[in-house]
Amino acid sequence: MNTEIQIVNPEFFQDAQLDRACEVLQSGGLVAFPTETVYGLGGNALSSDAAQKIYAAKGRPSDNPLIVHIGREEDLYRVAKQVDGQARALMDAFWPGPLTLIFRKTEEVPESTTGGMQTVAVRMPSHPVALALIRNSGVLIAAPSANTSGRPSPTKASHVQEDLWGRIDLIIDGGRVGIGIESTIVDMTEEIPVILRPGYITKSMLEDVVGEVRIDPALLAEEPGKDMVAKAPGMKYRHYAPKGRLTIVEGALEHVVSYINEILKEHEGRGEMAAVIATEESKSRYGTSCVYSIGSRKTEGSIAAGLYDILRQMDAVGAEYIYAESFQGDRLGAAIMNRMLKAAGYHKINI
Ligand code: TXA
Ligand code: MG
Repeated sequence: MNTEIQIVNPEFFQDAQLDRACEVLQSGGLVAFPTETVYGLGGNALSSDAAQKIYAAKGRPSDNPLIVHIGREEDLYRVAKQVDGQARALMDAFWPGPLTLIFRKTEEVPESTTGGMQTVAVRMPSHPVALALIRNSGVLIAAPSANTSGRPSPTKASHVQEDLWGRIDLIIDGGRVGIGIESTIVDMTEEIPVILRPGYITKSMLEDVVGEVRIDPALLAEEPGKDMVAKAPGMKYRHYAPKGRLTIVEGALEHVVSYINEILKEHEGRGEMAAVIATEESKSRYGTSCVYSIGSRKTEGSIAAGLYDILRQMDAVGAEYIYAESFQGDRLGAAIMNRMLKAAGYHKINI
């Protein structure tokens, strides 16, 4: 398949630049596009064929449901039922934006879109290109992250090219995304809303709007999957993982730096390629040239935004062993560490 690329400046574009992408979506094809979180791989959410194409392009297990992206609130009622006051309050507060809500699905949504489930995940993205694409095409867009299943999610168009070139019809290149980690997912089918995936919208932001919110217990377990199954099917798969063995080293920074420097010497002695994921503040403290800065501890947002790009770079440089500092910030720490731990296969050392 020939993959087209369309460059679009999110701050200044004309609707006509999205015409080709709209045509592709309307005729059942696949378009990768930027959202405020990560790039999505879009197809018609109400078409079983399009959903199956998405699974095939990503190599994704077909029991892992897709998120339906809408551009207007009234479209929610085409795909979801039993939308209550709490859900409406969350939508008022956070849509358009990086929040996905789970409802009971209507008949109109094919089971291939929902991975056979009777519930549906819905979000209204705030990225101007994503919104214009959904609204102009008139298509409700099913979109998982636009990576090959298991790889880190794409935060720029070149990541999508690496994974999906020749497998999809069109890539809209809208530059780097802003947030860099996927939306918060909240299950609204329970009496008390439950967070199934942490993200930019935090538990306390949700609680300010609807009172008590729970966290899926599988997210809090040291190593989910062993005795607990996550409620979002996607959370059970190995994900975001670089090819090298990633270890997170947690503790006071002094100790972390000296521990990692010791280990680097051992790897060097054995002729092994080891890399370090550090920050702007700490990168000069490691005795290797293979040290990469994920961002600055002064701005948590820069760490979230740099995470997937750094994990992809680890593969590009051929790192066999990777040591990362821990990035437990106040606001985005839960979301960042959720992704890091998955990428590391829950391999963490406390010192
Ligand atoms: O920020 C995002 O949400 C991005 C952008 C493109 O919008 N999309 C994204 O999609 O992260 P994906 O497919 O990579 O992740 C969707 C997650 C999976 O873990 C999936 O299992 C879960 O949402 N999910 C979808 N529908 C669900 C449902 N009905 N019940 C429980 N979990 C669901
Ligand atoms: Mg994904």
